[in-house]
Amino acid sequence: MAKQITPSTKLYAIFGKPVSHSISPLIHNMLLNEFGIDAVYLAFEISDIKKGVEAIRTLGIKGASITIPFKEDIIKYLDEIDDTAIKIGAVNTVINKNGHLWGCNTDCDGATKPLKEAAGSLKGKQVYIIGAGGAARAVAFGVKKELGKLIIVNRSKDKGQSLAKEVEAEFLPLELFNGSTHLSSSRDRDYPIDIIINTTSVGMNPNIDESPVNPAIFNKNMVVMDIVYNPLKTKMLKDAQNSGCKIVDGLSMFIYQGAAQFELFTGIKAPHQLMRDIALTQLMR
Ligand code: ATR
Repeated sequence: MAKQITPSTKLYAIFGKPVSHSISPLIHNMLLNEFGIDAVYLAFEISDIKKGVEAIRTLGIKGASITIPFKEDIIKYLDEIDDTAIKIGAVNTVINKNGHLWGCNTDCDGATKPLKEAAGSLKGKQVYIIGAGGAARAVAFGVKKELGKLIIVNRSKDKGQSLAKEVEAEFLPLELFNGSTHLSSSRDRDYPIDIIINTTSVGMNPNIDESPVNPAIFNKNMVVMDIVYNPLKTKMLKDAQNSGCKIVDGLSMFIYQGAAQFELFTGIKAPHQLMRDIALTQLMR
């Protein structure tokens, strides 16, 4: 039966540009229906996040997901920002508390929670993050929060060094990371690589034959995570799996950050497996 929309139906939304390929509306509406919540979740592709925030206030939108390219810009228009989001410099979730707009970031824990399920505690582990953009920042703060030993690996030196300095991590040029399997084998003895996380878009559809990591680096003791979820099993994850590594796909992070958002929106714990099944059916279309 079609959902009953009434004058009291609440509104949740995602703001971004583009949002046409987002699977968030499908997942959040499925969860709202599943728990019988009188609300809908809609996608708005906008050019000006200031106007987006005005819309949240004017229309009384209860909560919003914020995506590319507005995660940084939105901060100055909100009333209060959670400490972690301030450190990351990015907000991906807005909660409307009776007109008071509070922003936070669920990307950070969204990355570390599935990682901890695969790798156990991150404390003291050598974690190599590939990339130094916005996604890398959120993941880097998550890893630091969990007391992992962080190394930022990036193609460009300036961007990589700048993020490394900010999160108090080491920096390694991507070229050196990939070119030196002798370095990696010496690390196997003295400085093992425990975890590798790709935060770049390398390997994303249509460039599915690309990987940011030289496969010779992988060994069976490593956990390898990709934040790319299209395709679900990227070349990097295939290479890692062939070497016996445990792998964590990008859908895991997407699901965990979305589940955390749903909990903030409604106070209800979201069923991860159901979310993943719905996302997979959509992605396979
Ligand atoms: P986002 O905010 O989504 O993370 P971004 O700020 O554009 O995106 O950052 C993209 C990151 O992916 C950068 O660290 C970039 O490396 P550079 O600093 O050298 O540009 C990295 N990246 C993108 N394409 C890459 C490629 N083909 N090979 C290696 N790194 C790449």
